[in-house]
Amino acid sequence: MQIFEHVASLQKFLDSCRKDSQKITLVPTMGGLHDGHARLIDRAKELSDVVVVSIYVNPTQFSANEDFETYPKTLAQDKAFIKSKRIDALFIPLNSEIYPEGMSSDYDVGKLGQILCGISRPSHFNGVAQVVNRLLDIVKPNYSVFGQKDYQQLLIIKSLVKSKDLDIIVESVPTIREDDGLAMSTRNKYLSEDERVNASLFYRQLVKAKKAIEAGVAIELTRQQALSSLSDLFEVEYVEVLDANNLTQIKTNTEEIIIISAIRLGETRLIDNILFRSSNV
Ligand code: PAJ
Repeated sequence: MQIFEHVASLQKFLDSCRKDSQKITLVPTMGGLHDGHARLIDRAKELSDVVVVSIYVNPTQFSANEDFETYPKTLAQDKAFIKSKRIDALFIPLNSEIYPEGMSSDYDVGKLGQILCGISRPSHFNGVAQVVNRLLDIVKPNYSVFGQKDYQQLLIIKSLVKSKDLDIIVESVPTIREDDGLAMSTRNKYLSEDERVNASLFYRQLVKAKKAIEAGVAIELTRQQALSSLSDLFEVEYVEVLDANNLTQIKTNTEEIIIISAIRLGETRLIDNILFRSSNV
């Protein structure tokens, strides 16, 4: 595995791969790696000959009151983890390599970035789109892999690739969970022992809501029941039952449903979702 800190040296390496007709996949991360990230890397290896993993804690997707400064930085462990996955290139850029002309951006993710997580984090998805756009521009991969855990982010990235007409296939992988159902997340490290035990109830409530819908309970009633049960346990930011295709209200032609939620447990904000086929089709 080669480690690159500079765009120029990474691009030189990738150009030589392309000359040999090798296909490239990019897996962007912010480090603090866990088995969810590992699943993305495994998918990347299935897709292409060369896998590039980036580790970059992107300042533009955090607002002033968020955890940019305290975001887990575990670079030594991450390097060992990545090495064990036998990938080709690890890209750990400095700010000056990602944002040589400063951090302002005029790309606006639009409506999709203003709902759900975008309500409490209004500039977040613009920052995500900005850094992913830059990483895709640097690496120019054939594929890029993202997790369904961050479902709104996934749709925003798909829409970015489409609107910029990039010749890149965006692939996604299902959410990887701990044994008790909690979605793996770098931020789970923030949870106290008690909070960690309670956190597993988050996913359990989403599963309950999915079962209710499958049993024929009305969507809005299910949403209200989920909101009420989650509110007994956590501070609920939102819980919605939506069309997974575009995060709008469910219609008669909805093929896939998503139950999607964000909660707070003490100081920690957790997001999760469940995707399933609508019984209408
Ligand atoms: P990060 O939180 O490090 O996540 C990197 C990728 O791993 C994302 O595509 C995310 O959806 C995926 N992922 C995280 N936890 C997962 C889990 N439990 N199961 C499956 N996939 C999981 O998301 C970001 O970083 C950043 O916003 C980034 C896209 C890198 C831009 O800065």
